[in-house]
Amino acid sequence: METKTPEDSKTTLTDLVLPGETNPLNNLFGGELLARMDRAASIAARRHSRRIVVTASVNHVAFNKAVPLGSVVTVEAKVSRAFKTSMEIFIDVWIEDRESGRRTKANEAIYTFVAVDDTENPVPIPQIEPQSKLEKERYAAALRRKQLSLVLAGKMNPKEATELKALFE
Ligand SMILES: CC(C)(COP(=O)(O)OP(=O)(O)OC[C@H]1O[C@@H](n2cnc3c(N)ncnc32)[C@H](O)[C@@H]1OP(=O)(O)O)[C@@H](O)C(=O)NCCC(=O)NCCS
Repeated sequence: METKTPEDSKTTLTDLVLPGETNPLNNLFGGELLARMDRAASIAARRHSRRIVVTASVNHVAFNKAVPLGSVVTVEAKVSRAFKTSMEIFIDVWIEDRESGRRTKANEAIYTFVAVDDTENPVPIPQIEPQSKLEKERYAAALRRKQLSLVLAGKMNPKEATELKALFE
C-alpha cells in the first residue's frame, strides 16, 4: 500500500460564524465548532484512506479562545499518524482579523477515525511519513495519545500502555 504524507490529507474549511451558531455571549457555540472539526477531520481521514471512515473518539479539545459572532473561522485538519485501521487527525482552528487579514490560532483538537468496509468492519489503511518538524512531533506523540484514549475507553489494560508508563519512569 502506498505511503502518504500528512499534506496529502490536508483539509481546510473556511466559514463565517452566524447568529444561530452562537451562545448567549455571542461567541461560537462549542458544539458547532465540534461539528465543523468533525467534518474537516472526516474529509482528511477519507483523503488518507480512500475508505468509509467513522469517528472513533475525540481525544483532546481545547477551547482556548472564544470565537466571536461574525468571525471568519478556518478549520485545518491533517492526518498526523496512521496505525493499522485507525488514524489520528490533528485539527487547528484559526480566526482571521477583519482589517489585517492576519490569522490567530483559536483552538485545536485531536480526533481518531477508523476506516471501515461496507459491513462496518475496520480495514487496513496506508502508513504515513511525517515531513515537517511539527508533523514529526505530532506523529511521535500519537501512540501515547492512542494508548491513553484506549485506556480511558476501557479498551486497553493500563499495564499494557507502554508509552504511558514510560512517561513516569
Ligand atoms: C470505531 C469502531 C469501528 C471501532 O470498532 P472496534 O470494535 O473497537 O474495532 P477494533 O477493536 O478492531 O479497533 C479498530 C481500531 O480503532 C482503534 N480504536 C477503537 N476505539 C478507540 C478509541 N476509543 N480511541 C482510539 N482508538 C480506538 C483501535 O485501537 C483499532 O486501531 P488500529 O487497528 O489502528 O490498531 C466502532 O466502535 C464503531 O463503529 N463505532 C461507532 C462509530 C460511529 O458511529 N461514529 C460516529 C459518532 S456517533
